[in-house]
Amino acid sequence: MSLKRFSTALATAALLAVSVLAGTGASTTHRAAGPLVLGFSQVGSESGWRTANTKSVQSSAKEAGITLKFSDAQQKQENQISAIRSFIQQRVNVIAFSPVVESGWDAVLNEAKRAGIPVILTDRAVDSKDPTLYKTFLGSDFVKEGKLVGQWVAKNYKGTTKDVNIVELQGTTGSAPAIDRAKGFRSVIKGNKHLKIIASQTGEFTRAKGKEVMAAFLKANPHIDLLFAHNDDMGLGAIEAIQEAGLKPGKDIKIVTIDAVHDGMVALSKGQINFIAECSPLLGPQLMQLAKQVAAGKTVPHRIVTIETTFTPAQAKKALPTRKY
Ligand code: AHR
Repeated sequence: MSLKRFSTALATAALLAVSVLAGTGASTTHRAAGPLVLGFSQVGSESGWRTANTKSVQSSAKEAGITLKFSDAQQKQENQISAIRSFIQQRVNVIAFSPVVESGWDAVLNEAKRAGIPVILTDRAVDSKDPTLYKTFLGSDFVKEGKLVGQWVAKNYKGTTKDVNIVELQGTTGSAPAIDRAKGFRSVIKGNKHLKIIASQTGEFTRAKGKEVMAAFLKANPHIDLLFAHNDDMGLGAIEAIQEAGLKPGKDIKIVTIDAVHDGMVALSKGQINFIAECSPLLGPQLMQLAKQVAAGKTVPHRIVTIETTFTPAQAKKALPTRKY
């Protein structure tokens, strides 16, 4: 047999082995040799949190010796679905993604399952009823974050006899953090009939939209006591709108947010924000560990909750010098 014929025969045999094994759902067999390949579909670059999360994923992949195929969906579900399909075609070892919205993933997740490629959800959840469509979900407890912020509000207005006018800047409509943070917050403040949400609208997790919507809230509502922003970036945009309206953020209007990214912590330390519940973006190292485990066919916990804390202005001042993001 000529050398050319021999190598063609060898390649065909290797391909056959891969398809036979893939048919059995043996996810470790897609790429026989070389480093593990992880396809990662990121939401976008809407916030400081997202930038820190992207850095964490990219640097951890490098450290772990994992080849990362990174795709930015620019906040669009259709882009994430196309990226996942392309990862399936490329036969990566593992697919990970942070779903921009909760619904509408079953079809593409079933495609990955049929191809025998394990999927890891990071940061945000899907509302699929079929738990076998992904191996694990690594990320924060968003309901708890909403509750922690609600508890600060409930505590600070305890015993009030006057109505407290609250406005809310929600995250991306249909996203897990927007749905869950709103739910958690309401579940706590409903205990005091004077805590009233007088306006609620999405600020899409961005600074620009947070500013725009807060300016509209200020125009429409002559008296606002408190702003609950679903992330720091929207809170920071709102601070600009409040200042432009001639008011003092953190004093004339109290502000509570979620994330604890660097700029948010600086505003908190200055008293422009009053309280922040942390949402950690540093998911990279755990994600790489999980990718290796699921690629090796190991069983991992179906839900892994990130450990987080809360910050007052004094705590922010103390934490800032050693903060990683
Ligand atoms: O899913 C996490 C959220 O997404 C962060 O709280 C927000 O800043 C980001 O855009």
